Amino acid sequence: MRFRGDLLERHAGRTLPVTAAVPEQLSKRVSRSVTERLPEQLAHCIAEPIAWREPVPFAQPIGGAIAAAVPVSCAKPITGSDPHVAMLELGSDSPFMRSLERRRPGGSMRAYVSRTLPNHSAIVVSNRAPHEPRPEGGFARGAGGVVTALLTLAEVTAADWVCCARTDAERKLVEKQGDTWTAPLIRSHTRLHYVTPSREQYDQYYSVMANPVLWFIQHYLWDLAQQPIINGRIHRAWKDGYVEVNRQVAEKVIAVGRQVPHRPLVLVHDYQLYLVPRIVRQQLPGAIIQHFIHIPWPTPQYWKVLPKEMRSAILEGLLGCDIVGFQSSLDVRNFLMTCEENAGLQVDEREKAVLIDGRVVYARAYPISIDVASTTRLAFSHGVMVEERRLKDWRPERLIVRIDRTDPSKNIVRGFLAYEKLLIQRPELRGQVQFWAFLQPSRQDVAIYRTYLRRVRQVAARINAQYGGNGWMPIRLELGENIRKAMAALRNFDVLLVNPVYDGLNLVVKEGAVVNRTEGMIVLSENAGAHEELQSHVLSINPFDIEATAEAIYTGLTMSADERKRRNEAARDVVRTNDISRWLTRQVQDIRDLVAVPGLRAG
Ligand code: G6P
Repeated sequence: MRFRGDLLERHAGRTLPVTAAVPEQLSKRVSRSVTERLPEQLAHCIAEPIAWREPVPFAQPIGGAIAAAVPVSCAKPITGSDPHVAMLELGSDSPFMRSLERRRPGGSMRAYVSRTLPNHSAIVVSNRAPHEPRPEGGFARGAGGVVTALLTLAEVTAADWVCCARTDAERKLVEKQGDTWTAPLIRSHTRLHYVTPSREQYDQYYSVMANPVLWFIQHYLWDLAQQPIINGRIHRAWKDGYVEVNRQVAEKVIAVGRQVPHRPLVLVHDYQLYLVPRIVRQQLPGAIIQHFIHIPWPTPQYWKVLPKEMRSAILEGLLGCDIVGFQSSLDVRNFLMTCEENAGLQVDEREKAVLIDGRVVYARAYPISIDVASTTRLAFSHGVMVEERRLKDWRPERLIVRIDRTDPSKNIVRGFLAYEKLLIQRPELRGQVQFWAFLQPSRQDVAIYRTYLRRVRQVAARINAQYGGNGWMPIRLELGENIRKAMAALRNFDVLLVNPVYDGLNLVVKEGAVVNRTEGMIVLSENAGAHEELQSHVLSINPFDIEATAEAIYTGLTMSADERKRRNEAARDVVRTNDISRWLTRQVQDIRDLVAVPGLRAG
């Protein structure tokens, strides 16, 4: 509030976009009255149906945030129609576990949020649903670290949740059971509102536009001398897929925003949904809108890989927000520069804000994190102990671990090449060391991801054939999704290799720092968002430099016990302090301090 007043005053008379580069839509003022739709809203509130539909069996999610080793299905399926029965069933009942349970950001955080932002109705918006149907029946937690974080976000803000039906199985279920469901979160439940684009629209939006085009731009993955070729296929995918699905999602958010009892607080997530905020702003001008971007925001020059109408629409879309959240301060700087350079907008560097159409849009860094209590709980669970016993059967003297989705941004192949260098330069390690790459196949409906996975397999097979023998296999490549196995790996590494080309944050690092019990060292890419917080306590590498990576792995394997202990304690402290609760509270505080003007109500 204070900032906004100051800012507008400081820039008085100069708040409109200033150059011809600004797309026309950016300079239009939102003019609808906030009370225009009040009668309709009241009618909705009175008639609001809580959709008690046919009961759906849910497998409960574990609250822990294992970012890469994804779908979790545990405990027994719940088939009752009362969502309040959704309680976790985890592990032992020791005082330690009970104290961890108390620290989970459930109850007290929820009270904190409703105290800090009274009279707001939160709506979480994401591409994926929190739970997805499993082929064998029941549900599993939606894949990826984002969903884990959003489960906590929806839990503490008591949010409704808007998402896409992504697969035929989901589309069928929505057809059968309607598009609004009651679904479990961690302790409580949410009203889940499905958007149902056709299969073709979804494919164009997800498999052609969001992945790879946007993902590749935002992780600097294009080999620009050759790729991308922006052809008719991409233009069509933009228009008929990305724009269309964003429109459908926005319409759903608007419909939900008109039903909720208080001022809508719309929390949109990630690169699949850049166009949503602007459309929602036009229809619900009184709503508070925040978009959080989980992946890197590249430089203005790199955005220019994308045709102007696309990159301008993305900025326009995001500038419908009050606050745009990023993983790191570098992303914030790049975003402000992009607004200035590519759209000619006026930016206030000191306040980290963009001035647009008489409004202020703040850019802020909120590095995401893990739920330390749940992660620790999981690390001590029976299932993880069972996996650790299995690991003991084959554990080499020195264990290098990586856990990643098979995404080109994760830089798995260069990791293997660095390891090969290590075997060449330090032949004494042969037979003693093993590199366990536990990888989760990802986005296999996108050709470039299939090719990458093939390459990962080929390189691992070549290294094994070339250097292995006498019962020793240099690389243990495992493909699969098993959260307990991932946790066992993180508890036991001597070196954890996290060498992404670029990465929004990377939660595996934070999980590794918290649960490792073998004083293992983390080798971390300087281009991972988590590097900003952890750089003094890890071995930093340039992810392209395989010589330096090999050297850092060696340093990690041979560092003195005291030094490892010192660094690990410091890294653990950082993650414990900056855990998921901090991620949430900082956002809530900013929403209160920068935006939440009392008395406004959405139109
Ligand atoms: C990772 C990224 C997220 C992204 C998610 C989507 O977790 O860090 O930014 O939203 O993947 O993955 P999906 O499998 O849904 O394409």
